Amino acid sequence: MIFHLTAKSLECGAVSASHARLLPRPKPRRQTLLKLAFLKPDQPTSGTYIVGVLDDRKLTPAAASLDKKTGGVVTRAMGSSRFRGRKDESLDILAPRGVPVSRVLLVGLGKLNELDALRLQAVGGTIVAQLNRVGEAMGSIVIDTLQGAPLSAPDMAAQIAYGARLRSYRFDKYRTREKEEQKPSLKTLTVLVTDLAGARKSFASLDKLADAIFVTRDLVSEPPNVIYPESMADLAKRLVAFGVKVEVLDEKQLAKLGMGAILGVGQGSVRPPRVVVMRWDGAPKAKDKRPIAFCGKGVTFDTGGISIKPSAGMEDMKWDMAGAAVVVGLMEGLAARRAKVNAVGVVGLVENMPSGTAQRPSDIIKSMSGRTIEVLNTDAEGRLVLADVLWYTQDRFKPKAMIDLATLTGAIIIALGNEFAGLFSNSDELANRLLAVGKGVGEPLWRLPLAEAFDRDIDSDAADVKNIGSGRGGGSIIGAQFLQRFVNDVPWAHLDIAGMAWMRNGENPLVPKGATGFGVRLLDRLVHDHYEAK
Ligand code: BES
Ligand code: MN
Ligand code: ZN
Repeated sequence: MIFHLTAKSLECGAVSASHARLLPRPKPRRQTLLKLAFLKPDQPTSGTYIVGVLDDRKLTPAAASLDKKTGGVVTRAMGSSRFRGRKDESLDILAPRGVPVSRVLLVGLGKLNELDALRLQAVGGTIVAQLNRVGEAMGSIVIDTLQGAPLSAPDMAAQIAYGARLRSYRFDKYRTREKEEQKPSLKTLTVLVTDLAGARKSFASLDKLADAIFVTRDLVSEPPNVIYPESMADLAKRLVAFGVKVEVLDEKQLAKLGMGAILGVGQGSVRPPRVVVMRWDGAPKAKDKRPIAFCGKGVTFDTGGISIKPSAGMEDMKWDMAGAAVVVGLMEGLAARRAKVNAVGVVGLVENMPSGTAQRPSDIIKSMSGRTIEVLNTDAEGRLVLADVLWYTQDRFKPKAMIDLATLTGAIIIALGNEFAGLFSNSDELANRLLAVGKGVGEPLWRLPLAEAFDRDIDSDAADVKNIGSGRGGGSIIGAQFLQRFVNDVPWAHLDIAGMAWMRNGENPLVPKGATGFGVRLLDRLVHDHYEAK
């Protein structure tokens, strides 16, 4: 799907888009390199034939019938390998006799009663990775009804296709000299299932969610000379095509609103900051019309400012806008599936640069809340951005819940590695919902405390609050505690996704190396389970 901006859709919002014409215009791509098709079961005649095997080498009906047709090839191949049908296992059988396909791929499904949506998504992802590894162009997988399995055959088919699609993501628009053999080999994956209509219907909503995740991954992958506050705001305007109302606040409007914290971070850059407000009113008739609000840190590049970062690894700071990118992708996803919810997304977009106009350590700025902030470290900038975004959001929209996402602290990577995002909340109910949903969609969170002792640590001698603590411990908590100073009564949760936004090695079956889109699935499901009119 490619959307063209009409002149009309560009009028929405306050900023002129004229500058964008002079610069490379990032186009998020919605297509996948991999073609996914659902077809009626039929013996495939070429490519790789994929069949599932359950734990303890229990053959699925498709595997059993293939074994029979080939005079026991499946059983013999398993017998001479360690393959047991456990999760994440696979076994390649080349040029099997008795069938016209070039290869059979046995995929481990694990235990039957554990064959849930997440497991099947992982199977789909593993298939894609494996077939690309061996250079296959075409694969077909048969989905049988498995008695006693948690999901129906059409749902299983849809989940496998969804996982395959998520894993097939690749950001390659700037690779102009790639040879065919350097590109992923797998072009088509066919899912064979009797209830075609059921599978296609079940897949439709997952496919839309994958689109939304790819929007986020694209934004996060783009380099900072292409994605900067104005260009990212322009891209957010594409959501107009989905029925989202998009407003872009420029620096004059930010000044008028008193957003001295965002403006302070942005003042060292030649690229002016923006705040983008996205509204999806999917429940206009709801009794309680208050929206759920999502706020994102969108630092399009974080040098640290005058408190400059070491150059080694600084390139990672192109993805310091991941929180904002999740909010943009999520809002598109909610609108694309016409979610029956009133949702608002607010992102603070800014570039943190050192320069003659940059803010200095010890500057005192005034945030929109009226609170003054002593900026003792210009590298603790995300919390400054969010201070104004959170205040603005609760003040204007009176949301029933407010959730922010931010690559806020390196300390959260020390604490939780790349396995959990940090969760902080003033509401046990909201926190517990998020924890449960995170487990369910495979985007796990770990709750960390907020406490008065940490709060005291950010009292400033010179202003109302300072942007760093006085010690070295608990850096992620200090960051969250700072944010909480700008949150009133609303149930609020802060997700520190610094360890989750970017994947260095392709370990996760659903996420290739690079931008993960972590948070989109989580919050889409949170809305679905808890905030949508049923
Ligand atoms: N964007 C960084 C946090 C970060 C670090 C994200 C590494 C992803 C990977 C944030 O703006 C930052 O610089 N935080 C400082 C805070 C400190 C100065 C109190 C940090 O974590 O060192
Ligand atoms: Mn920083
Ligand atoms: Zn940052």
